[in-house]
Amino acid sequence: MSSPFERLAKSASQRYRSAGVTAWQFARGKLLGDPVYRAVWEGPWIREGTVVDLGCGQGLMLSLFAAAREQSDLYPNHVARDQCRLIGIETRSHVASIAQNALGHHAVIVSGDARSVTIPRCRTLLLFDVLHMMNASDQEALLLQALAALEDLGVIIVREADANAGWRFRLVQWANRAKALLKGYSSRSFHFRSGAGWRSWLEGHGLKVESSPMYAGTPFGNHLFVARRKDISTGV
Ligand SMILES: C[S@@+](CC[C@H](N)C(=O)[O-])C[C@H]1O[C@@H](n2cnc3c(N)ncnc32)[C@H](O)[C@@H]1O
Repeated sequence: MSSPFERLAKSASQRYRSAGVTAWQFARGKLLGDPVYRAVWEGPWIREGTVVDLGCGQGLMLSLFAAAREQSDLYPNHVARDQCRLIGIETRSHVASIAQNALGHHAVIVSGDARSVTIPRCRTLLLFDVLHMMNASDQEALLLQALAALEDLGVIIVREADANAGWRFRLVQWANRAKALLKGYSSRSFHFRSGAGWRSWLEGHGLKVESSPMYAGTPFGNHLFVARRKDISTGV
């Protein structure tokens, strides 16, 4: 018997069928095999308001929202989340169009570079496996833009590799280089940081950060960082 999340992930991945077997099976494999989607979906962080996914790729995280709206029996307590406004920003135009087609009226996908697009005011910002794809100063500039767009009680959820994770990190680097080669872009400007480095970078911008390993079931040395301006329980 599959869990509600597995059923949701399968239903979300069906949304990519019209984009072809590769997009569909990629979505299914990632949603079921990469722990970040389940952790963020089932975590307490996204409740309401606007969700902006920077570097959304095919829009996998947003596809869970779309699927849940059409299968409300799976997560009946997520009613407020049904009202979330969903926005993705993706620099590769053909991938942005796959995302838009899969998400339909549930989301708006902006085809453009997150570094130059105006980020809409939002409650939640997602940055999964995207920051390392730019150099350190662009990471800095993007974070400042993200902070300017974030509501006071907002949250930034970042998933990144931990450069101190030994062979698990080397696998991430290898996979990134192989993907860049296959897709025809350069990985030379990629900039990774250690888990402690990401944490102190976020804290250095006045954010309160929770972090946890985020690679269960995969060999990759990834971490999840949940960063807020304020602790919502104390308001400080
Ligand atoms: C490793 S993929 C992750 C995709 C998505 N976040 C997910 O979890 O499935 C990183 C994505 O970020 C996109 N990307 C990289 N730099 C970007 C930028 N400056 N602006 C917008 N998208 C960007 C890439 O094209 C790619 O689709």
